Amino acid sequence: MVSLLITFLMTLSFSTIIFILLFLKSKLYYCTCDVCHSYLTSNWSTQYNNLCDWYTHLLQNSPSQTIHIHVLENTITANPNNVQHILKTNFHNYPKGKQFSMVLGDLLGNGIFNVDGDAWLFQRKMASLELGNVSKNAFDDVKFHVENRLLPLMFSVARGKDGGVVDLQCVFRRFSFEYICRFLFGLDVNSLELPFPVSRLSDLFDLATTLSARRAMSTSPVIWKTCRRLNLGSERKLKEAIRNVNILVEKVIENKKKLGFTKNQDLLSRFMEVTDDGSFLRDVIVNFILAGRDTVASALTSFFWLIMNHPEVECRIQTEFDQLTINQKQEFATFEQMKELHYLQAAIHESMRLYPPIQFDSKFAVENDALPDGTLVKKGTKITFHPYAMGRMEAIWGKDCKEFKPERWLKDGVFMVENPFKYPVFQAGFRVCLGKEMTLMEMKTVVLGILPRFKLRLVKSDGELRFEPALTATVKDGLPVIVGERSVGSH
Ligand code: HEM
Repeated sequence: MVSLLITFLMTLSFSTIIFILLFLKSKLYYCTCDVCHSYLTSNWSTQYNNLCDWYTHLLQNSPSQTIHIHVLENTITANPNNVQHILKTNFHNYPKGKQFSMVLGDLLGNGIFNVDGDAWLFQRKMASLELGNVSKNAFDDVKFHVENRLLPLMFSVARGKDGGVVDLQCVFRRFSFEYICRFLFGLDVNSLELPFPVSRLSDLFDLATTLSARRAMSTSPVIWKTCRRLNLGSERKLKEAIRNVNILVEKVIENKKKLGFTKNQDLLSRFMEVTDDGSFLRDVIVNFILAGRDTVASALTSFFWLIMNHPEVECRIQTEFDQLTINQKQEFATFEQMKELHYLQAAIHESMRLYPPIQFDSKFAVENDALPDGTLVKKGTKITFHPYAMGRMEAIWGKDCKEFKPERWLKDGVFMVENPFKYPVFQAGFRVCLGKEMTLMEMKTVVLGILPRFKLRLVKSDGELRFEPALTATVKDGLPVIVGERSVGSH
């Protein structure tokens, strides 16, 4: 009787294992082509520092500037005509799609980044009211944060006992977190005061976005979904991080309700005027922190890295500012003067051409389609456009595409806007970024705050930037720099 039972149990276990294997096989796409093999074995990393550099190499060598990673069921393109088709001409065929909202759904909920259709349109309209025009008030807020948070921190580093070394990426993350909180809910989280009082929300956010990015890297959703169901490994940590983010965000909302709100105060107040749905307000906050924190910090980090490697560009930025303010003794550019800084505007665009904060972006095809370059897209598959690779395509930017040359954006000294489908750093078409103007103003204010006052040098001045897997380009091990104070008029 016992042996019969053992035989039965063994047969049952064996059948279950076979069933699981067959199920996984049907869900996991298997391919042995060189590219897929290199992806699955991470063989690409023997030649390239970053996955995006390998993709760039593949895209540069593709006649149509489009490639397929079969195991990911992903078509990746660096062809501007395709980008225009996806983001504008046939926009309705390329929503974010279920796959995307599954990966980021636990963190982003029904916020603007994670929804399509009416839910998206409503939030876009509401947010446009706040972000459509960058006001003088917004500029004053940024300037306040630069003058009262960022610069004092930099001075204390330069004069401090730690040899004047600081991780610039970390500084910019804290700065942009602080500013986006001010913009979102009118709150001064003051996260830049030394010695870095670790802002809990900011840290939990880091953890939640990093763990969510891991899901996106996985070859099949079955793997992370199984771990989520069983509450295992990084999925358990993600759940905990999101739970804690929610607790803190709820406190912010409660606090706002207690203080009272009026429409024109900040973005959260604007949304609270039309709804008191706590879960929706939570989603608004989380999505806008994601939109405005890491992107700006990433853009500033690579901008300063490039400037430290190109002192001639730094010099021209400074000269432009000096010439503009020659008759006034000014410490800062005014709101109006910001618009006159064409070279600085060009340098910022040029740095994001080479180092876009969002290196690639994916959509899902609702129906079968053909892209302008003839590539067929199968219903339900992923299509990715790749701003990082696009910034390095000779076909788009010419032979000097790898060089950092702000001049390419200027005609007779005046900044010229590029075709957004060639430069989809802020995306383009119907879902173009709403924060572009705010970002440019924020970046200019930071640059003009730091450059005249500090001489920055890289601690490690070797080669290229290395990135870690994340939703937004994040420099691996940060960007340690030596901060020296300039004497007045020494640049
Ligand atoms: C360097 C800075 C930034 C870059 C490179 C950037 C880039 C992008 C990109 C690529 C998208 C499209 C994402 C997608 O749909 O998949 C996007 C969307 C968006 N961005 Fe930005 N962004 C930046 C800063 C900001 C800031 C500071 C804000 C506002 C606080 C902001 C607000 C938004 C919003 C609301 C959307 C959603 C638009 C929509 O879906 O209709 N962004 N951004």
